[in-house]
Amino acid sequence: MEEQLKKIENEAQQEIAQAESRERLEQLKVKYLGRKSMVTRLFTKIPVLEREEKAKIGKALNLLKQRINFFLEERAKNFEKKEERIDLTFPPEKINRGIKHILACVDENICEIFKNLGFMIVEGREIEDEWHNFTALNIPLEHPSRDVFDTFYLDLPVSDYGGENKGGGKYLLRSHTSPSQIRVMEKRKPPLAVISPGRVYRPDKVDASHSFMFYQIEGFCVDKNINFSHLKGVLFSFAKSFFSEDVKLRFRPHFFPFTEPSAEVDISCMICKGRGCSVCSQSGWVEVLGCGMIHPEVLEACGIDFDRYQGFAFGMGVDRMAMLKYRINDIRLFYENDLRFLEQFYEV
Ligand code: DAH
Repeated sequence: MEEQLKKIENEAQQEIAQAESRERLEQLKVKYLGRKSMVTRLFTKIPVLEREEKAKIGKALNLLKQRINFFLEERAKNFEKKEERIDLTFPPEKINRGIKHILACVDENICEIFKNLGFMIVEGREIEDEWHNFTALNIPLEHPSRDVFDTFYLDLPVSDYGGENKGGGKYLLRSHTSPSQIRVMEKRKPPLAVISPGRVYRPDKVDASHSFMFYQIEGFCVDKNINFSHLKGVLFSFAKSFFSEDVKLRFRPHFFPFTEPSAEVDISCMICKGRGCSVCSQSGWVEVLGCGMIHPEVLEACGIDFDRYQGFAFGMGVDRMAMLKYRINDIRLFYENDLRFLEQFYEV
């Protein structure tokens, strides 16, 4: 008899351990403890046993019943836990998927504003030749920006990259996005309104405001009867969207070889609202971009009739825009990839 009880217990334990649902547990409860179960049947035999046997077997059967119940309850707990886990109303754990880099956000933001003003986005090349980076932009051979201290020249054989190389000059990492103007105007004819974002490279010593690689956005527009007030209107509209409605612009005469007339543009300092602070060197103004009317030599280099067409152009640093808008005082923060810095811009 004892052996029989042990066998039932083992079987029950095994089957219960393998049960995969509450329904299955119910079935096993009926099988092992129900009215027609072996255990119940054995209970009915107790009255006909010897006195001593009665007590012994009765105790053993009760114990077996308790143990089977215990197995059932323990297994049932498993299903309780599983059901809790798939509670669909339970708020999910936050998954950290990372975010876009702040510079990418600012870059996209600026492009979007110009897109809404009717500009088309065209990406230029990071590896350029001297003709596109300098010559076609009316930058003379003796200009200091052509110096090896201001431009990264590449040791590439002329035939190796991009096919044609007008002027047969050296290849280089573009030092500004202005060659995008040339690339576009060579291929397409006016009317044109183009914005061209991208990386630029200069062998500058890295400090709080310089990096050997940074981001620029070039913009230009060529059509009949384009004049300086169109340039002012576009830039003013951009500055209002990007900074704030109450921003003021100041155009200061300047010189760039590729524009005539040329200007540097300042915005009223967003930090002190023009009252004077360390960011604007107490002047109330911060320089943000260069611009001007495209030089006739540049239009001519691209085969555009400068008697019929005029254009304006501008170029700005994305890093600088981001620094001004978000009050970041060191350009190196953008490139160090310290999550404590980057994660501040979740909402941008
Ligand atoms: N290429 C200039 C630079 O890197 C920026 C610039 C100034 C671009 C005036 C322009 C412009 O298109 O008209 O400093």
